[in-house]
Amino acid sequence: MRVKAKCVLLLVLLTVLGITLLYNYHAAVDEEVPGELTRRERLLLQQVTRDPNRVIHYNYPITNEASISREPIDISVEMPAWQEVDKHIVVVTGFSQKKAYVGLGLIASVQAHMPVKKIIVYNLGVHPKIVKQMEQMCNVEVRRFNFTNYPKHAAKIDNKAWKIFALREVLMEYGGFFYASPQVRFRAPINFIIPYILKHEGIIAITNPQNLSVEVTHPDLYGILRTSPARFTKAHPNAFIASEHMWLALNGSVPETKIWTPLLDCASNWRCIGPHGSTWGDIEPNVNGTKAHTHRYDMSALSLLLYRNYYDSWHSDTSMNAILKRIADVIYHLDLHDYLWAHYCNPPKKEIDCSIERKLC
Ligand SMILES: *[C@@H]1O[C@H](CO)[C@@H](O)[C@H](O)[C@H]1NC(C)=O
Ligand SMILES: *[C@@H]1O[C@H](CO)[C@@H](O)[C@H](O)[C@H]1NC(C)=O
Ligand SMILES: *[C@@H]1O[C@H](CO)[C@@H](O)[C@H](O)[C@H]1NC(C)=O
Ligand SMILES: *[C@@H]1O[C@H](CO)[C@@H](O)[C@H](O)[C@H]1NC(C)=O
Repeated sequence: MRVKAKCVLLLVLLTVLGITLLYNYHAAVDEEVPGELTRRERLLLQQVTRDPNRVIHYNYPITNEASISREPIDISVEMPAWQEVDKHIVVVTGFSQKKAYVGLGLIASVQAHMPVKKIIVYNLGVHPKIVKQMEQMCNVEVRRFNFTNYPKHAAKIDNKAWKIFALREVLMEYGGFFYASPQVRFRAPINFIIPYILKHEGIIAITNPQNLSVEVTHPDLYGILRTSPARFTKAHPNAFIASEHMWLALNGSVPETKIWTPLLDCASNWRCIGPHGSTWGDIEPNVNGTKAHTHRYDMSALSLLLYRNYYDSWHSDTSMNAILKRIADVIYHLDLHDYLWAHYCNPPKKEIDCSIERKLC
């Protein structure tokens, strides 16, 4: 009993002490701050520091100057030093509102591991407020895909023709790209993979070990690429589809003829990129004599071209796969809230974010 009473007394004393301290603190702040400060400035001072002359230091670059190279590059002729190659590789992604916050998390992970890497985001219908937020982030460029320059079917973003054209534009502009789906999270800088680019002739992709290529590719595509599902399966048993999450490319005359020319031809023809009956969802093929078939569009076409040119060697390089695994993860829980870690440069993020806490500004 006595112990309990002591405890209560201690608690009361502590509370009184706390209230007194808090009161004095507020009184002190009110005294120190000259009357001219606005309410917002006062809040800032209270939250951050009581020294109005404090200079804020950011531990990340806030100059918004990505490290890029404008020198032409053709790795089939000459492979430059890795530092130069690194400057050609920009990170590219694209998303709609549905994946917007997941995509901002990707941006944060690029910024964390590659503070001077340029990030291009294709806006496929993101809310203007989030577009504005992205434009304020360090080294981020938000783009809209210019559909008027391409065949009509590219305007249907589901068939992914836009993605091939957009990545091609970036390749021609910078000489390289690392496409990352919004679900990718970088865990290390891209430059670890650079030593593998030449051996893989300028195209690095990984497989999705869940689905065989034939299961998720419309049969008509094989005809257009002058093969058939049966012939393909015979030549490449257990051939998995290329993953839609990561894809690295560098400019070079060999990948140009082997991959890019046929890939662009395919993207320009709706019968090739998305044959009649194609659907992204997992369905049973050809039910009741329809042409319905699961299809992976850009990845279906890319996979067929990779298998045709490189058999299994494009995905069976174990040391490359191990490095890729260390560079980036794919997340499947989409509510990580890691977008909070994104860095701001234009202007640097203030202690109070006026776009969110408007009533404090
Ligand atoms: C890409 O390579 C071609 C030659 O294959 C060259 O003409 C072109 O300038 C290169 N583009 C870039 C951006 O390096
Ligand atoms: C799209 O490209 C066309 C033709 O090159 C050009 O006239 C138009 O201004 C572009 N639109 C946008 C929004 O950039
Ligand atoms: C692809 O793989 C997933 C996961 O194993 C499976 O549920 C789905 O049915 C497969 N799709 C097709 C078309 O076989
Ligand atoms: C296929 O046809 C059968 C019988 O005509 C019908 O019961 C079934 O719902 C059809 N399936 C699809 C996916 O249309």
